[in-house]
Amino acid sequence: MITSKETQAAAEALKSGWLGLGPRVREFETRFAAFVGSAYSVATSSCTSALDISLRALDLPDGAEVLLPSITFISCADRLLKNRLVPVFCDIDPVSLCIDPQSIEQHLTEKSKLILPVHLYGGLAKMRDIHEIAERHDLMVIEDAAHATGAKYHGRPVGSLAGTAMTCFSFEAKKIITCGDGGMVTLNDEELFNKLRRLRNQGISADTFARVKRRTYNWDYDVVGLGERAYMNDVAGAIGLAQLDRVPHIIRKRRQLAECYTRHLQAIDEIEVPIEVSDTDRAWWAYVVKVRPRLDRDALSRYLARKGIATSVHYKPLYHHPLLREYRRDLPVTERVWLRILTLPLFCAMTERDVLTIVKSIKKWLAQRHRRHASRSAPIQNPHQAGSVSSASRGMACGYAHARSL
Ligand SMILES: Cc1ncc(COP(=O)(O)O)c(C=O)c1O
Repeated sequence: MITSKETQAAAEALKSGWLGLGPRVREFETRFAAFVGSAYSVATSSCTSALDISLRALDLPDGAEVLLPSITFISCADRLLKNRLVPVFCDIDPVSLCIDPQSIEQHLTEKSKLILPVHLYGGLAKMRDIHEIAERHDLMVIEDAAHATGAKYHGRPVGSLAGTAMTCFSFEAKKIITCGDGGMVTLNDEELFNKLRRLRNQGISADTFARVKRRTYNWDYDVVGLGERAYMNDVAGAIGLAQLDRVPHIIRKRRQLAECYTRHLQAIDEIEVPIEVSDTDRAWWAYVVKVRPRLDRDALSRYLARKGIATSVHYKPLYHHPLLREYRRDLPVTERVWLRILTLPLFCAMTERDVLTIVKSIKKWLAQRHRRHASRSAPIQNPHQAGSVSSASRGMACGYAHARSL
């Protein structure tokens, strides 16, 4: 949510005369590193570019395989292709929907070089298991924390977990904190840090701001390699700083709304609510429920849309996209679960009253559905037909119970 604090910070940056990569970005980097407890951080124009330069910084050989979850945003996979790496989609944990460490083990080959876990919706991947696999097989780890600003894993902020080379955050418009658009890489390795700073700025040895000393400007620099134009600008940095001031409030508010949803939805048998795994403090970026199998998720979404409630699906499995079809694998949990997920509205400007309105609409749709089903399966007088109806409904009940135990 943008308040007068962000507008004022952006206005001051605009009036300062320094719009590009400058002092506000530097300050945002320093404060974000302190926030997550990392030694360094590098601000970028987006999380996509953060992932891009992080992959590039590792200098992996062409064709190296990267293990990533099947359900995530396209940036995780298209940045791999861009860097001539091969996405190896792994199955997901049916509860958190994050990458399943067992599936990582199953998909390891001699070419595996990197694991790219994603903290989906702000819920945390099983990082202890993932780091253990990485250490055993000599693999690197880059975490995608686009959804997980402010999350903690066993008491440690995401962004500074030992065993992870780099963690990438997103400050895109809808994220936990936003700069309009922006990203950040946090890390502890000085050599990688210096490399990332060059990679985000077209391989230039020292950025423009670094070349200004006491009102004098040194025009000279060296280009030491190919890079991207991927740095954050100072207006975005100023907005990020103002958001960082408010981050405890933002996190509290999102949690309060999520807990309100859970209180009112958990008693509904047809809806499975997201849970917080013990020893983690998840960030509530999105509130994603799973509808029970045999419930038409899309019909519920359409009904809510007619009531003015926008829902979404984050995400269809990446290998369903034409770009990535050739990387498709047999991932049974992914295929069963993705048809059931529905993202309900969750943003700071919402109130608990809004949550109740949404819950009420869901209940109403379910009640209408029950009535329709009840009228369709009303007792039939003909005894021959009656037998076939009861066996059909027995079959449905079994299928339901089986799928529920997923
Ligand atoms: C999991 C995940 N990773 C990466 C990104 C890319 O972030 P950005 O929009 O900042 O490039 C997103 C964007 O939504 C995302 O959801």
